Amino acid sequence: MKVNGRDMRATWWIEDGVAYIDQRRLPHALEIGVAASVEEVARAIEDMAVRGAPAIGVFAGYGLALAAKLGDDLGAAYERLARTRPTAINLWKGLDTVRGACAAASKTLRARATLATARAFDDAEVAAGEAIGTHGLALFRQGTRVLTHCNAGWLAVQDWGTALAPVYRAHRAGMEPFVYVDETRPRLQGARLTTWELAQEGVRHALIADNAAAHLMQRGMVDLVITGSDRVAANGDAANKIGTFGKACAARQAGVPFYVAAPISTFDPGTASGADIPIEERSDDEVLFVEGVDESGTARRVRVAPEGTAVFNPGFDVTPHELISGIITEVGIVRATAEGVAEALNRAKA
Ligand code: MRU
Repeated sequence: MKVNGRDMRATWWIEDGVAYIDQRRLPHALEIGVAASVEEVARAIEDMAVRGAPAIGVFAGYGLALAAKLGDDLGAAYERLARTRPTAINLWKGLDTVRGACAAASKTLRARATLATARAFDDAEVAAGEAIGTHGLALFRQGTRVLTHCNAGWLAVQDWGTALAPVYRAHRAGMEPFVYVDETRPRLQGARLTTWELAQEGVRHALIADNAAAHLMQRGMVDLVITGSDRVAANGDAANKIGTFGKACAARQAGVPFYVAAPISTFDPGTASGADIPIEERSDDEVLFVEGVDESGTARRVRVAPEGTAVFNPGFDVTPHELISGIITEVGIVRATAEGVAEALNRAKA
């Protein structure tokens, strides 16, 4: 995707380490960070400077390639990176793929092999996003009004995105889609990132408070809901950003189709159902404070609840497969059932 006319990915390899767009600074500033050690890669994932399921898989893969280049203990690097976030299975897909290239005997060969594998994994995720866009385009008509939650665009997937990939395809095909963007409390990925991405692409959109989504669906203002996912279980249940399940319930009640868009790297056949997906709990401060810029453009962090308020802050929820109209993957749209998941995995292997 282009930023100010320049082709960019969310993260990329450079001579000194792994570069990334610092997603904590958007939309107010486009800052590039550099992780020069495995610990810095891990912290960037934990602090959500790099976030979104496929993007953290790619970034962690580069982190392991960095460990190989620096001559670090690869087992320890793997363990550190694997501890960063628990929900998105893509993290392990990236780590396991790159670890598979670590067997080479000499340090130089190992460094080359891990980097080549990390790059190939990155390119495969980009290609998957592009193909998701192609398959998802079938759900669009002229002027389709889509509602999305969180950020499942190119920042979360390196390029194209998952939920937003079909939107970008439809936009480029002249179909003039319109996107309702849930703000996505508490980290506001919708308000900060999805709006920014859509504006860069010139896609028509409106930001809505999370609480407004059900009302819009009830009033017939939404044709289609598409969200991303952090892990699709063997039975088709899908974990995604907290609040997604509620949108799916509202969509079912209002008769609006609810689709999940996810690459095969998000499928986890080893997890039987959504009940088995670990749900990350994040810090109280994400709920107690909001961050933004004031009228002079200065970054501010302000408290919104009384001091001492107790908080519970789950980062994800699970949408049961019964509420999902289909899963848009790079190998086509499949049903959100055990058979559909197996079919997608088989097609990907073929
Ligand atoms: O906590 P985040 O911002 O990493 O959560 C991201 C999401 O939940 C996305 O919707 C999901 O990763 C799918 S992105 C392709």
